[in-house]
Amino acid sequence: MPGMVPVVVMGVCGSGKSTVASLLAQRLGRPFLEGDQLHSPRNVARMAAGVSLTDADRQGWLESIAKRLALAGSSGTGLVVSCSALKRQYRDLLRTDCPRLALVYLRADRALLLERLTARTGHYMGSGMLDSQLEILEEPKSPERFLACEVDVPAHEVVDRAVRWLASLDA
Ligand SMILES: Nc1ncnc2c1ncn2[C@@H]1O[C@H](COP(=O)(O)OP(=O)(O)O)[C@@H](O)[C@H]1O
Ligand SMILES: [Mg+2]
Repeated sequence: MPGMVPVVVMGVCGSGKSTVASLLAQRLGRPFLEGDQLHSPRNVARMAAGVSLTDADRQGWLESIAKRLALAGSSGTGLVVSCSALKRQYRDLLRTDCPRLALVYLRADRALLLERLTARTGHYMGSGMLDSQLEILEEPKSPERFLACEVDVPAHEVVDRAVRWLASLDA
């Protein structure tokens, strides 16, 4: 059914994934899944300690998100997920049983990301986590099905763009 393809809102920490994905889900009247909520307690503890996750740490987490995407894709319920999905191999995993997956990629300069992360926590955010994510980030590229959005504009404008792009996709 057109327009019901599952969506992943991706990008590094501070790019606005949780904000944009939840607003987008609301606008589309679809369920929202906060990808970070599917992390294991072990991963949560590592991230809280400022330790970067390895590919092995991320495997089970990505598999659980992939399962939710596959289910949403086959049932046609639609789903909007926030998930960093930094590497091509992570996204390939997410697409395993959801080949039509649509990616909304949120992009910003390091300075803006750091500013937003600091505003979010209320105190200066060490840049370590951000820099390690920027380091491993592989931006989506063709033939991946994606929209790249600069996020130096209000979140609702990013959502507007995403809504228009999704409406232009055929199923
Ligand atoms: N487009 C935007 N303009 C201004 N502030 C934003 C925008 N998008 C998100 N924010 C703010 O930036 C911070 C990080 O956003 P968040 O959604 O938590 O990012 P992520 O989930 O990618 O880590 C939050 O405090 C959020 O309110
Ligand atoms: Mg988030």
